[in-house]
Amino acid sequence: MSMIAALLLAGAAMPQAAPTDPTPRVTFDRHSLRIDGKPTLIWSSEFHPFRLPSPDLWRDILQKMKASGFNTVAIYIDWGFHSPKQGVYDFSGIRDIDRLLTMAQEEGLYVITRAGPYVNAELSRGGFPGWLVNQSGKARTDDPEYLAAVDEWLGRINPIIARHQLGRGGTVILHQIENELALTTPAQSRYMRHLYDKARGQGITVPMFHNDQGRNGYWVPKSSNVPLTVEGPQELYAFDGYPGGVCGVDNKPTRGAPAPDWGLYGPGGAKGGASASPRTPGFIAEFGGGWFDYWGSNGMYPCNAIQRGSGYQRVFYGTNIANGIAIQSIYMGYGGTSWGWLPAPVVYTSYDYGSAIDEARNLRPKALELKQIGQFLAAVPDLARLEKAPPVTIAGSDAVQVYHDRNPDTDARLLFVAPKPSNATGDARFTVTADLPDGRYSFTSELHGRDAKLLVAGVNLERQRLVYSTSELQTSIRHGAEDVALFYGRSGEPGETMLRYATAPKVTVIDGQVASDFDAARGDLRLTYTHRGLARVRIEGGGRAPLLLLIGDVAAGQSFFRQDGLLERGPALVRRATVRGGMLDLTGDTEAAAPLEIWGSATIRSVRWNGQAVPVTSTPSGSLVARRPLPGPGDLPLPDLMAGTWRYAPGSPEARADFDDSGWTVAGRARNVATIRPPTGQPNLGADAYGFHDGDVWYRGRFTGSAEARTVTMHYGAGGAGMLQLFLDGKLVGQHVLAGGLPRPITTGVAAFDLPAAAQAPGEHVLAAMVRVNGHNWDLDVDDAHKEPRGLISVSLDRPGGESFAVPIAWKIQGRAGGEDLRDVARGPSNNGGLYGERMGWTLPGFADADWQQVTLGEARPHAGTSWYRTDFDLSVAKGEDATIGLQIGDATTPRSPTRYRVLIFVNGWNMGQFVANVGPQRVFPIPEGVLHHRGRNTLALAVTSDGAAGNTIEPVRLVTLHHTRGGVPVTDLAAPVYRDLYPTH
Ligand code: GAL
Repeated sequence: MSMIAALLLAGAAMPQAAPTDPTPRVTFDRHSLRIDGKPTLIWSSEFHPFRLPSPDLWRDILQKMKASGFNTVAIYIDWGFHSPKQGVYDFSGIRDIDRLLTMAQEEGLYVITRAGPYVNAELSRGGFPGWLVNQSGKARTDDPEYLAAVDEWLGRINPIIARHQLGRGGTVILHQIENELALTTPAQSRYMRHLYDKARGQGITVPMFHNDQGRNGYWVPKSSNVPLTVEGPQELYAFDGYPGGVCGVDNKPTRGAPAPDWGLYGPGGAKGGASASPRTPGFIAEFGGGWFDYWGSNGMYPCNAIQRGSGYQRVFYGTNIANGIAIQSIYMGYGGTSWGWLPAPVVYTSYDYGSAIDEARNLRPKALELKQIGQFLAAVPDLARLEKAPPVTIAGSDAVQVYHDRNPDTDARLLFVAPKPSNATGDARFTVTADLPDGRYSFTSELHGRDAKLLVAGVNLERQRLVYSTSELQTSIRHGAEDVALFYGRSGEPGETMLRYATAPKVTVIDGQVASDFDAARGDLRLTYTHRGLARVRIEGGGRAPLLLLIGDVAAGQSFFRQDGLLERGPALVRRATVRGGMLDLTGDTEAAAPLEIWGSATIRSVRWNGQAVPVTSTPSGSLVARRPLPGPGDLPLPDLMAGTWRYAPGSPEARADFDDSGWTVAGRARNVATIRPPTGQPNLGADAYGFHDGDVWYRGRFTGSAEARTVTMHYGAGGAGMLQLFLDGKLVGQHVLAGGLPRPITTGVAAFDLPAAAQAPGEHVLAAMVRVNGHNWDLDVDDAHKEPRGLISVSLDRPGGESFAVPIAWKIQGRAGGEDLRDVARGPSNNGGLYGERMGWTLPGFADADWQQVTLGEARPHAGTSWYRTDFDLSVAKGEDATIGLQIGDATTPRSPTRYRVLIFVNGWNMGQFVANVGPQRVFPIPEGVLHHRGRNTLALAVTSDGAAGNTIEPVRLVTLHHTRGGVPVTDLAAPVYRDLYPTH
């Protein structure tokens, strides 16, 4: 056996890297990534730029993630979002990935890129472009037609990523080549190899991985030599997991199962015992930080935020850390909005996800807990390399467990204290006895409810030696000659912190009640206290640099931000801290007038907050405090939309017999590669075959009146909560709606209608059908499910019991203006479908609606088909204030209305979502600044689709404030065409 092989088998640290990079900055061993040789724990959360169509606000999210303690952001990149047509790609405006990667670097975050080709992500087609559904070659295989398409994408996206890699102009440290490819035939192996080779060939040198759907051992790196795994070409093995239970239909959290041990403490056996890939770091590419919600639910996001919220995070993320998972990414950090036609059938517009940053960009309470965990991980680099340490003794309770780990180089210890089983929520008081680096110790602690504690022992903190603490360490900084360390515990619980000194130090309690005693034999200074508010203790002498010990309860701990050697507390958010020539420049947000306290470089003489000088004074605990509170936001008055001027126009002229469809495409002959096809001999009516991939499609079918024309049966595909409306010679015959629901929404249906007698009258008649296409299926199972047809599949016009397809129909089709040739490039492929009003530019600012009928919206009458309502309104959000304003339809206290209608919401031409009154649950649609003009005029256009029955019309709409702070980041209104740009001759 060679020396290297022997070392590998012994599990020694053998940094590895991509073979092609002579000076790799990102390498790894079996414990962790190494960045510039330094073992680094990756603590990441996920963000989808395509779900926030306002690039300036990307910075807001990145800053909030950083301030919440993450060192990395993981991003999916959605192929379809960039490509309306084969060979056509756009990376500008809201699609500027280059800009996003630059921003991440500027904000000091590492990046994990996940660029497809397939991403899933609850996106229509799982992120595949619309045109890909017209390929006969099977997707996610080595089929040449598919690979050629993939190469187009990779040829564009890989070079962008490559130039943003760490050391090459950016901070990308890891790259994902496929997502949850659970089919592992040779065709997939060759496909994976192709993806890998492309990326390497196109300059991606950072370690690459695949995201396995669970710890199955699919696509583990070669040489893993673990039975029952499937080898792939990449360097790292990663998997995802969403344990912890889901909310019940009653929107109440459920108990869920205990946290799984997916690393050091995992069960042995096949697939590698503790890891499916024992020579690479424990890597969870997605770990549930919420969950998505579906059409027809009762509105689960607030519950999802709790189910995977405070407590869950400590138990589940803590279990992963204790299992040595050194790369962990939370899905989602910010969910955002599946605006326009982005959503897959499984979701509606909001992709809030119950994530730490909510859809309106507020930090949820759980973000503050994440901040404590993240600051802790950053403060103790020893945690990047963990191995099992000998078990500890627990006395006094059977209801707790302690994971005891050690760093093999420094012997630092992690004691992860969790309920046993970890989904228990009782009360426990217990004593732990452990052999620690500084001796054998016993200490007492408690656990109440859903909670866990990440305790450390035998750790060097700045210039101090922490023997152990029953309080959780949050962070530490070096503050000139003094160190500052922040610990926290549950309010009212006793705590104990043991520090090591050569001789008895001097202890001064500045604030709070803290007792101390010194054991001269051991050199141990023991501090005992009850966590309440924020205690401050100065410890001087004893042979060490002085230490300011801050001991808070959880809330006090959560009030701290840490920015490069500085600690700040008071404001709702501190975004950035820059020290230059004695001046500290802070930026951040206040939700109300707020205090400010700062510890940091002893050289700070003056402080500015968002550019304004803040007079400060120093305190006995070495900090600076603002003499006056930082100002909060002012009022944010919003216009009353119901009192505004509204204009109305009917929007389904296509239904009329005399409508001019001479410009429409004849439907029937296109090649059909869909997964469901019409009976032999029948025309191909599927919309995709004609280049209409997103949103609504219209069909007009001419037939000759006949005694046979009694019933019509329409097989159609429309995605989750999609629908069909059928008209005969301009009159609504009926509508049919696909019911929503998980796990698999109903995405196709059969609508059968009796036709009015008019259809039997001689002469030409027109059947006109509108299909509301709510997304294409994802291709999660590699079965080409994204090729399920949309629009009409087949239509049979018959006499009951008679011969099928008795009366021939000549069909024409119309979808989005231009089809794959986008008219509105800036808003892009997911913005528009084929409603008449969309084709005519009625959604756009500057469209002259003065000759439309003026109406009072509160008295809008129900009309069969689609009706358009337009209004303008002005906003004047104060400068220096950040807000998210949303549009609410109807009564926010109930997820759905008794009435049946649906609305597409266009704000300044941007399709910001769909409201379906009788399905629900979403009634409030956040509109990001940039789309919404916070200081100026806005145009709102609502496309209301109804069967025209009594009551089925738009409910009251209002603007609501969903987020409001003083602070924020500068946002420019999006550059996008107005009416005269797209319709110059009108
Ligand atoms: C994962 C998948 C993601 C997303 C997630 C659920 O399995 O990789 O793309 O679909 O599930 O939100």
